[in-house]
Amino acid sequence: TERYAVIGNPVSHSQSPFIHTEFASASACTIRYEKLYAELGQFSVVAGDFFSAGGRGLNVTLPFKGDAFRLADEVSDRARAAEAVNTLSLRDGRLYGDNTDGVGLVRDIVQNLDFSIKGKRVLVLGAGGAVRGVLAPLLAEQPASLMLANRTLIKAEAIAHHFSPWGRVVATGYAELEGQHFDIVINGTSSSLSGELPPIPHGLFSPRALAYDMVYSKGLTPFLQRAQGEYAGMLADGLGMLVEQAAESFDIWHGIRPETRRVTNMLREVLA
Ligand code: ATR
Repeated sequence: TERYAVIGNPVSHSQSPFIHTEFASASACTIRYEKLYAELGQFSVVAGDFFSAGGRGLNVTLPFKGDAFRLADEVSDRARAAEAVNTLSLRDGRLYGDNTDGVGLVRDIVQNLDFSIKGKRVLVLGAGGAVRGVLAPLLAEQPASLMLANRTLIKAEAIAHHFSPWGRVVATGYAELEGQHFDIVINGTSSSLSGELPPIPHGLFSPRALAYDMVYSKGLTPFLQRAQGEYAGMLADGLGMLVEQAAESFDIWHGIRPETRRVTNMLREVLA
């Protein structure tokens, strides 16, 4: 039985074991998928032990995606762009790092929600690790424009500069968004985790706009409540992204692209 795990701190609430086990049983793979807790500063030791003991792949969650990037012998272009790795694979004694968060977001938007990104005016809120993880795949969809708003402007500016080889990102503060309209607004801040709303001005959403919160939650997050109140055309939380990034990792490991809709629906019920 091939061994896989998700490594994080905390890791107890991770849905990855459930998702990967469901994917495996649907595709007749036999795998064991565990949760692996690592103390801060112990990532490389715990991950190293896992692979030495025969582990085949690791999903990496907070706060270790940067450590995983540095640990990998080789990384994909999208992981290099993110400077973060959420999928580690051991192949022929070498550790290969990839980042599936961005394709997970893009697949959820383009395929599951049937909402094209190409040619759209996109606004991304936040300038932390979550946003870095998704920008390269978003830019690859060729939006008309991609603006990045953050409270701390200098962080947005640093990201815009870093991503210039992948495409144009325009950094902005929140106040400057006043009077502008977007087709897609993605909340990549951690505001929803503390029940807060980023300081966005009213009237950001074009008619038929998609409002996407990368955090998933039972009810609507404050950001999605605002979007609903302003008649955004479509509201989505990050559950679809969570399952799609897992599907991409599953494909990297097993060469099989699993069906995601059923698992997303199951998770939605578990979380309700
Ligand atoms: P993560 O890895 O989840 O992205 P992070 O690196 O700590 O976490 O980044 C958190 C992001 O959420 C930052 O962009 C932060 O804004 P600042 O850089 O200005 O601090 C943003 N954030 C958190 N709470 C917020 C809030 N209530 N309103 C607006 N932005 C918020």
